Amino acid sequence: MQFFSRSRKISEMLRVSMRLPPLVKSAPNARFSSTISRWEGGVSMVQGASRGIGLEFVRQLLEKNNRGHVVATCRNPGGATGLIDLKGKFEDRLNILPLDVTDESTIEAAAISIKEKYSSLNLLINTSGVLSIPKTLHPETTLSKLEKSALMLTYEINAVGPVLVVKHMWPLLKAGGGSGTDREFAVVANLSARVGSIGDNSLGGWHSYRSSKTALNQLTKTISVELARKKDPILCILLHPGTVDTDLSKPFQKSVPPGKLFTAEFSVQKLLSIINNAKGSDNGKFYAWDGAEIPW
Ligand SMILES: NC(=O)c1ccc[n+]([C@@H]2O[C@H](COP(=O)([O-])OP(=O)(O)OC[C@H]3O[C@@H](n4cnc5c(N)ncnc54)[C@H](OP(=O)(O)O)[C@@H]3O)[C@@H](O)[C@H]2O)c1
Repeated sequence: MQFFSRSRKISEMLRVSMRLPPLVKSAPNARFSSTISRWEGGVSMVQGASRGIGLEFVRQLLEKNNRGHVVATCRNPGGATGLIDLKGKFEDRLNILPLDVTDESTIEAAAISIKEKYSSLNLLINTSGVLSIPKTLHPETTLSKLEKSALMLTYEINAVGPVLVVKHMWPLLKAGGGSGTDREFAVVANLSARVGSIGDNSLGGWHSYRSSKTALNQLTKTISVELARKKDPILCILLHPGTVDTDLSKPFQKSVPPGKLFTAEFSVQKLLSIINNAKGSDNGKFYAWDGAEIPW
């Protein structure tokens, strides 16, 4: 008994000297109580956070949950001015790390860094994605424009990379307050797109982007099946943000009907509400911004 109370005292001293947050008591009946995060308010990771929807996720996670911590990753932290501004406002709760989804060593390094600092993650949002890159990647309008290099690059950034991020963060994903609410599972949310739905494809075109999101959907669904089978308390969902006014959609906005181009603020509010209300039966599902399920 004496040993336990002394070791508790030592760990309390260590906690205070390392400026760690107080230990969170597990909910008495929580099925996965042994895996509840000790970071009060939770730790969320947003991958692809330099701009657009990813940056807005970081902003809203920090603003809406004043106890939550956010790890924002991007290819070039030094040039991510939006994140640097947020760091000025939320210095203690925002951690910016380098991560390029096409370089697995940067994913591993981010996982090590997160493990050392927080030991666990409650929410992982993968947002990185490309549709076009000037002079390099042009969404195809016909089969005759299909190029192997475009297909491979798009798959690598939109499907392979995000799934490797899930693989490396998996050991860290624990139940807890991903965005303020204590819950019995961690959440992985992968940003997909309605055009990735095979059932919904009546327009054709954008072969590389479309099929890369279809691949992301199948990979995420496959992961969700494995995690459920292993009774791992992690939910995986796919999200379509709507057509959102970001760099990605800029070249294509002329054809968007009036009222159908959302601000990132509106879209992320809707997506965070889906994430925050996620329950066990949502595992492996593909949802649009308004909560409607999208066919595969
Ligand atoms: N906007 C829409 O209308 C819309 C519609 C449906 C689905 N989506 C999906 O929503 C997600 C976010 O899109 P968005 O509109 O916010 O796009 P965006 O403004 O163009 O931002 C794309 C993000 O992906 C990052 N990224 C690109 N290549 C990367 C790499 N190799 N490694 C790590 N990060 C990389 C970019 O980082 P850098 O700054 O370093 O380039 C940037 O942060 C995407 O998955 C997209 O497919 C968007």
